[in-house]
Amino acid sequence: FGLGVASGQVTFRHTITGEVLNLDDSLPEGRDTEAVRQFLQTGINPYTEVKECLPKGEEAYLVACSGCHGHYAEGKVGPGLNDSYWTYPKNKTDKGLFETIFGGAQGMMGPHGSHLQLDEMLLMMAWIRHLYTGDVAEADWLTDEQKKNFTPFKPDKSAEENSSASEEQKTA
Ligand code: HEM
Ligand code: CA
Repeated sequence: FGLGVASGQVTFRHTITGEVLNLDDSLPEGRDTEAVRQFLQTGINPYTEVKECLPKGEEAYLVACSGCHGHYAEGKVGPGLNDSYWTYPKNKTDKGLFETIFGGAQGMMGPHGSHLQLDEMLLMMAWIRHLYTGDVAEADWLTDEQKKNFTPFKPDKSAEENSSASEEQKTA
């Protein structure tokens, strides 16, 4: 018999029902990365504030989440994920955030665990944390060291300038 995915130390539970989540429902790809292995043992996302991970996380977030939560997680039909207010306070932990993404919450917030790779979920979580605009002191997901280096997210000004510059070129 195989070890399955849920061979880590941490038990993951549905955010609303408390039922144990079965990680074997996840996609077969992206299960056995070093980051996933670590996360299943510790409940801590090793990708948080790792620069090389952010673009991949952004891409996954834009595909699956931004339609409801906004381009910068500022909130739309779903609540903002970039501030220090959480409907479910456990989302301040990596374990809690993962559980909410994997198993869903209420209403439009359905489960995403069966169509995303586990590694992709960790990347996406790192991007969501990077989008944070609130008080760093309340960012429980950051280590003390990470708190010292964290600067609240600001949309990329140069990207906006670039796009308006190219529009000017078009109309010129
Ligand atoms: C709630 C993340 C996709 C609609 C939440 C919460 C998180 C989250 C963390 C709880 C926020 C809190 O505690 O304050 C994500 C991520 C997504 C995703 C990472 C992509 C994988 C979506 C989509 C929709 C949606 C596609 C719309 C179809 C909602 C709604 C809530 C919510 C309405 C409030 C649910 C409740 O309070 O129980 N989402 N979400 N989300 N999300 Fe999403
Ligand atoms: Ca919020």
